[in-house]
Amino acid sequence: MSRIPGPNIFSGMFALRDISKNPLKGMTDLVRNHGDLVRVRTGKKPILVVNDPTNAKNVLSDDSIYVRTNPPPLRKFLSGSLLLSRGEDWEQRKRSDGEAFTEIISEKALKDLVESADYAIERFGSTENDGGRPEILEEFRKIMFRMTSEAFLRTRFTESETETIINDIGRIEDITERWSTRLVKPSKRTLRQERKETHEIKKRHDSIILPKVASRIHEVNKEDNLISILQKKNKKDGNPLPPQDICGVLGNLIAGERASSIVMTWILHCLSLNPRVQLEARKEINRTTSGKPIEEKHLKDLEFLDHVVEETLRLYPPTWKIFRATNQETRLQNHLVPPGTLIMISPYLLHRNPRYWSHPDDFYPERFSSQDARDTDSGAYMPFGFGPRACLGKNMAFQQLKIITSLVVQKYDIKEESEEEIKPSPGFYLNPDSNPCISLEPVRTEKGDHIEHDGSVQ
Ligand code: HEM
Repeated sequence: MSRIPGPNIFSGMFALRDISKNPLKGMTDLVRNHGDLVRVRTGKKPILVVNDPTNAKNVLSDDSIYVRTNPPPLRKFLSGSLLLSRGEDWEQRKRSDGEAFTEIISEKALKDLVESADYAIERFGSTENDGGRPEILEEFRKIMFRMTSEAFLRTRFTESETETIINDIGRIEDITERWSTRLVKPSKRTLRQERKETHEIKKRHDSIILPKVASRIHEVNKEDNLISILQKKNKKDGNPLPPQDICGVLGNLIAGERASSIVMTWILHCLSLNPRVQLEARKEINRTTSGKPIEEKHLKDLEFLDHVVEETLRLYPPTWKIFRATNQETRLQNHLVPPGTLIMISPYLLHRNPRYWSHPDDFYPERFSSQDARDTDSGAYMPFGFGPRACLGKNMAFQQLKIITSLVVQKYDIKEESEEEIKPSPGFYLNPDSNPCISLEPVRTEKGDHIEHDGSVQ
């Protein structure tokens, strides 16, 4: 049984310092210097960084040994959601929540998503034209929230409710992130304050969401909203799911939507820097729609657009780190791993591992249409995780990203105006480190313009 490679005590201290200063660079250097299975000491317990697809898949496939660690603020805020459940409860919920999430992505919901996104994007485009520069990420947070609540929950939130929910979830992310990365133990006072704040946020969140749940919960015969579908599918001890648990699912949904808004921002950023890709995507859209407005029936034929979203998720996976902890002694590759070991798998590192991706830092959506991508180990690409605990909202998120991207690309030329390079900033999610300065200029198509077979406008 050999020892897992990693920096020695002294160089380990430097590695840790580098990781806490600049996590992406620090982690990239760590795996470059020590290989794809590395041990780093943090205080008493080591962390294992797993950066090869096979080991990553093995860890994520067995949730009876490698258990998801959920920091207390998240446990409080998302109580009742699938993310936090375990064992039999999780098995049953994964099935029934999964069915509910599949059922809700109906043709009607897609149609509503297109309409709702269309409205929001018109507004988004005109904000820029009015001379004000929209905070893109903030705008997308609102757009996603509105799309989701209208198409899936059949519910409208007021502007102030929307803002409260969005800001509160942002705070929970910040508090959770501080919890997960604590290298220094916080003071009792800080812990008390954070506990109190989390409690207040949860109370405020429930006071907005619970009445909406209550107003939908008895519409069991309506098939058009997630709340009643969840209610119908899920039974806890033979009884319908309590409203508090439905609140947890919706909290999870809203939190997932925040990841999608970040991806949307990265998509526009990548497209703005790659006019060639933008043009290809626009051609595909015009070819598919014959230059008419996009409808839900067109979405399945927009394959290149799929690759644009996939490639953005490869370069900028919002969930850039996934943690597990061993609950017993186990064997990983040729090494014995003691119980209580923290394991980190980073989709960001895997997706840029040069052993599995050629020119890993380049934005090249075509790689997903080639045989190469199909031959790439499935563990080298996991923006939505892997194994039994992989993302439940994957299809929903993917469809939303595709809808918004297609509408923006069809209508606007996306231009980057910022002088400075936008870099990923790792926190709870992988955010851009500053607001991308993107301008949307309406694509000029005049009456009488003709759509050629290749989708170009003549
Ligand atoms: C682009 C957007 C999203 C990304 C990149 C993403 C990514 C992920 C990842 C990587 C995991 C696995 C975490 C782990 O293994 O510890 C996960 C789990 C999960 N995600 Fe998402 N997610 C997104 C959007 C959503 C949305 C919209 C929902 C809606 C409800 C959602 C619901 C969930 C749930 C419930 C789980 C836990 C599943 C389980 O434990 O069985 N996600 N997500």
